[in-house]
Amino acid sequence: MNTIVKFLYGFRDWVDDRFPLMQNWNEHLAKYYAPKNFNFWYFFGSLALLVLVIQIITGIWLTMNYKPSADMAFASVEYIMRDVDWGWWIRYMHSTGASAFFITVYLHMYRGMLYGSYKQPRELIWILGMLVFFVLAGESFFGYLLPWGQMSYWGAQAITSMFGAIPVIGEDLSIWVRGDYVVSDVTLNRFFSLHVIALPLLLCGLVGAHILALHEVGSNNPDGIEIKKHKGPDGIPLDGIPFHPYYTVKDIVGAVVFLLGFFAVVFFWPEMGGYFLEHNNFFPANTLQTPEHIAPVWYFTPYYAMLRAIPDLLGGALVMGAALPIFFLLPWLDRSPVKSIRYRGWKFKTALAAFTIAFLGLGWLGIELATPVYTNLARFLTVVYFLFFILFPCYTSPTDSVVTKYYRAGVKWILRLILAYLVIDQLAVMLDDKQIIDNAFLGFVSGYALLVILIEVLGFYSLDIDKPVPDRVT
Ligand code: HEM
Repeated sequence: MNTIVKFLYGFRDWVDDRFPLMQNWNEHLAKYYAPKNFNFWYFFGSLALLVLVIQIITGIWLTMNYKPSADMAFASVEYIMRDVDWGWWIRYMHSTGASAFFITVYLHMYRGMLYGSYKQPRELIWILGMLVFFVLAGESFFGYLLPWGQMSYWGAQAITSMFGAIPVIGEDLSIWVRGDYVVSDVTLNRFFSLHVIALPLLLCGLVGAHILALHEVGSNNPDGIEIKKHKGPDGIPLDGIPFHPYYTVKDIVGAVVFLLGFFAVVFFWPEMGGYFLEHNNFFPANTLQTPEHIAPVWYFTPYYAMLRAIPDLLGGALVMGAALPIFFLLPWLDRSPVKSIRYRGWKFKTALAAFTIAFLGLGWLGIELATPVYTNLARFLTVVYFLFFILFPCYTSPTDSVVTKYYRAGVKWILRLILAYLVIDQLAVMLDDKQIIDNAFLGFVSGYALLVILIEVLGFYSLDIDKPVPDRVT
């Protein structure tokens, strides 16, 4: 053994006598047995981790030259872009990283839905993941104000004003959040402190807890089978392989491909056609001039479309506010004994497809101007989005217990009432505008008719399994 290697081993042992280095290495990497059948969808957890590191490092460097004051913030970002050595590169990595974070995390969550990774015994991993998502949403919202451009300013103004819709305490609450009657220097300072210290600390803590919880129960896999059920005489799962070196190598391949795409955007298309960096945000905040068309960044547009779809601001805020917390309930709404989509029946597949279309459709509508036809479509898709969750116990329940029976009956009636209200509301709008029934309206009504049929069919009790789940992973 050469002297350097000998020295390194010696140093490792010296540390190991004083700190559980090898114990943790083994527990979380070399002797952490993960299912051998991970696929493409299992890249996104480690990629989200990579983006987190990119954001923290580029964020530290941005903070070295950024000035959190209403007078200087915009100019300091311009200074970073033009005068600081490599400043443009660091800033574009950070702005692209924000979108990349949401792309990886959305796909990571979707994987959980495909393979039922939120189900017992991984409920807590899911809950911690959802908390991570909320902190991430806050982190990007606070960060978006910092460049002090027109969209930064008016986006923050619109969101903080929404607290005003809460009865009684609303106005005081929005002033308390902003620290002023309008978004101002005070708001910028507190958003800066939250963005740079409070939320990143929380995010790192929650991500750590998320991974610890995962390593406690072990990973799910595309078959949704617990590998711990089949262990060899040495106590090692028969379908498991050590995370290191097998999945570290796999994740490095994923990271390299991801970074190629990431840097292609950073170097050649950092604005991404106005989706990653919005056109209006290249103008300094003007407190006297609202931009013509305020829309949030692309990753918030599904929720923004819901907000606009509801005619009443408080109602819209409530619907929008429920759209994400409802994910917390997924482990308990899903009654199926089967985890993976591979073995689930057509009802779950139809429902997930409808949810996917609704989510993407709302995302697109949130970017577009709210014409009457688009608003109707957004209402329709909002209903589909929530139906996915509300009907979950109906189309996944294996037993026709009293609870599920009453749940189904109750849900059906509530939905019928909501649909009736929406159709009447639509008719009232049409009559008020003296419009004749046009194609858009027919499309709208036929959409609802389809929905009612779906409710009746999906709402029926039956075990929704397509094929038997194998004993071992495939
Ligand atoms: C910064 C954000 C996040 C990071 C860095 C992160 C990281 C990870 C990592 C490294 C894994 C293990 C590898 C893998 O299964 O892909 C994992 C698993 C998991 N994560 Fe996340 N995660 C994040 C957000 C979320 C969110 C928002 C959710 C859902 C609400 C979530 C739900 C899960 C679940 C259910 C698993 C277990 C998956 C399985 O075993 O099939 N995570 N996460």
